[in-house]
Amino acid sequence: MADDDQHHQPIPNPSDPADEPSSDPSEASIEALARRVQESLAVGGVQKHRFWETQPVGQFKDLGDSSLPEGPIEPPTPLSDVRPDPYGLPSAYEWSTCDISDPSVCLEVYTLLTNNYVEDDENMFRFNYSKEFLQWALRPPGFFPSWHIGVRVKSTKKLVAFITGIPARLRVRDEVVRMAEINFLCVHKKLRSKRLAPVMIKEVTRRVHLENIWQAAYTAGVVLPTPIATCRYWHRSLNPKKLIDVGFSRLGARMTMSRTIRLYKLPDATVTPGFRKMELRDVPEVTRLLRGYLARFAVAPDFDEDDVEHWLLPTENVVDSFLVESPVTHEITDFCSFYTLPSSILNNPNYTALKAAYSYYNVTTKTPLLQLINDALIVAKQKDYDVFNALDVMENEGFLKELKFGPGDGQLHYYLYNYRIRNALHPSELGLVLL
Ligand SMILES: CC(C)(COP(=O)(O)OP(=O)(O)OC[C@H]1O[C@@H](n2cnc3c(N)ncnc32)[C@H](O)[C@@H]1OP(=O)(O)O)[C@@H](O)C(=O)NCCC(=O)NCCS
Repeated sequence: MADDDQHHQPIPNPSDPADEPSSDPSEASIEALARRVQESLAVGGVQKHRFWETQPVGQFKDLGDSSLPEGPIEPPTPLSDVRPDPYGLPSAYEWSTCDISDPSVCLEVYTLLTNNYVEDDENMFRFNYSKEFLQWALRPPGFFPSWHIGVRVKSTKKLVAFITGIPARLRVRDEVVRMAEINFLCVHKKLRSKRLAPVMIKEVTRRVHLENIWQAAYTAGVVLPTPIATCRYWHRSLNPKKLIDVGFSRLGARMTMSRTIRLYKLPDATVTPGFRKMELRDVPEVTRLLRGYLARFAVAPDFDEDDVEHWLLPTENVVDSFLVESPVTHEITDFCSFYTLPSSILNNPNYTALKAAYSYYNVTTKTPLLQLINDALIVAKQKDYDVFNALDVMENEGFLKELKFGPGDGQLHYYLYNYRIRNALHPSELGLVLL
């Protein structure tokens, strides 16, 4: 069974791999207990989060305090009160705005991340975002070049740290809020634990404030004050032999390799009539479909046609989108998409790269969800992906087990900056996938 497998995913500080997810409601209370322990450490005078406790984010001590209102924690300040110059760095380093459209700069960012970005707990895999992916992820409609922030060594100009923001409109319950989505925080391995990350976070925050934006959204594998939701990655083997050979998954109990290969075998061709790749002409219809769908979730992006064209129109080896066009009415009834994020395989004699697809946004109105996602798996297999990953967000729980996804060993926590949510959300209340 797929559930016997263990999967390793580059997420920092994942939970105990033996901690299998379950639908047991006590899981939520274990999480709550863990937070109460953190909270008691903090009130005892031991500062648990020296930086985050100074920031306008939900604090552990406020957990469960239903008297606090939902919404911004601090009001905006006049723009003239925003600090005009960058935060101070240690004297050997300097800020450097990175023009990601410049191929040589993009290569520097790519190289920093390829060697220093997120690894799994056992240091077997490291995310390997491609240069094309970085260009896509960092240049959406209305992006601010000044939010692509590097730190260089003054003497050599070597890029040693990075953080980014991109603008987004996120709806939180009934409010559409202009936010920054913060991503790609990375400090070179040799410069870790020197409190550089808080300076970088403060600097990106300052530059976001300068654009009159006061809220942000981000995800992390680590627990910080305070997640709005805690999600898990699930993994669907497409190339089980390779995944087992590289240690991404393990042969299940009572399973042989040939039985495992048979278990994960997929049909050669998709089955849904009218299933085809999304094209430019589909943008208005897909936007309508997606907006209608995302309205169901407590937190979701407020996509317009420009956003859909950017985020969902297929880009080779970056994002793939398919839809179902009714052969009779030519109406677009269903939509599915995934993005491409390979991982480097560290220290394996036979393989260097794991080709992974990540479920992005999916909408069904006519096609059964299991059939639509199975068609996405079939396409991903045709395109030679090794694994198809999905978070338990949106309605994904409705296909994960049935389509033989197995739970991963890490959690992904979602956060909002300067926006309070009264109670943590269930992953299925989230309509947001960050890259
Ligand atoms: C994440 C990373 C930049 C942190 O840098 P570091 O040198 O380990 O930590 P620093 O000493 O500079 O700063 C520590 C502070 O940053 C916070 N921090 C660490 N990781 C963080 C994250 N992912 N998001 C936000 N804050 C984070 C810590 O909680 C701590 O603040 P606290 O005292 O309030 O708890 C670095 O470990 C790294 O590059 N890791 C690999 C890539 C990665 O995991 N990126 C984050 C992806 S979500």
